[in-house]
Amino acid sequence: MQHNAESITHLIRTRRSVFPDQFDAGKPVPDEIIEDILVNATWAPTHGHNEPWHFTVFTGKGLKQLASFQSELYKKEAGTSFTEKKYLKLQQQPLKASHVIAIGMKRAMHTRIPEVEDIEAVACAVQNIYLSVAAYHLGGYWTTGGITYYENAKSFFGLKEADRLLGFFYIGHVAVPSSQGKRADIKEKTTWIRE
Ligand SMILES: Cc1cc2nc3c(=O)[nH]c(=O)nc-3n(C[C@H](O)[C@H](O)[C@H](O)COP(=O)(O)O)c2cc1C
Repeated sequence: MQHNAESITHLIRTRRSVFPDQFDAGKPVPDEIIEDILVNATWAPTHGHNEPWHFTVFTGKGLKQLASFQSELYKKEAGTSFTEKKYLKLQQQPLKASHVIAIGMKRAMHTRIPEVEDIEAVACAVQNIYLSVAAYHLGGYWTTGGITYYENAKSFFGLKEADRLLGFFYIGHVAVPSSQGKRADIKEKTTWIRE
């Protein structure tokens, strides 16, 4: 099947973040679709062919493991900034999703590619996830909240010291669609040099 600019443009411009409270909580997405979405993720550009992404997929009872790990780690590490509200959120949010994908960046040994470029490649992969989720008429969003930047969270997701946890991608069926998005005029974001 050939793609065309019109349909790709439509997909890109109508893709919206869909948050866990908007999911149809009891309805699972088949694992095969998630696998397909992840293969699409890996077709992102990658400098030096590092392919620095690593995904840990939580589903079924695995979601409870994630919920309990992240809420308890938060409780242990938050110190004076601890709130019961955030603790409960970390405990409950994963259970609303069909799948939660922990987004990891793994550094290759002896790579000459700057770290920021591996992070950029993973961000490109996440955009592929976003677009694929939209193409399947599913909902999802990338969150960098909670324990994302806790150093001692990494090993739970198979990540080592030089690697990074870049957040979580929640996926579910959509019960309540997001409202229309908005963006600034492209003129405010572009400088053309013609002469
Ligand atoms: C790197 C990154 C981190 C994000 N982290 C969060 C987050 O922690 N919580 C959240 O509600 N949304 C998060 N988002 C999603 C944004 O809120 C969302 O993209 C923004 O509201 C624009 O909406 P749209 O995706 O529908 O265009 C994140 C997006 C990116 C790119």
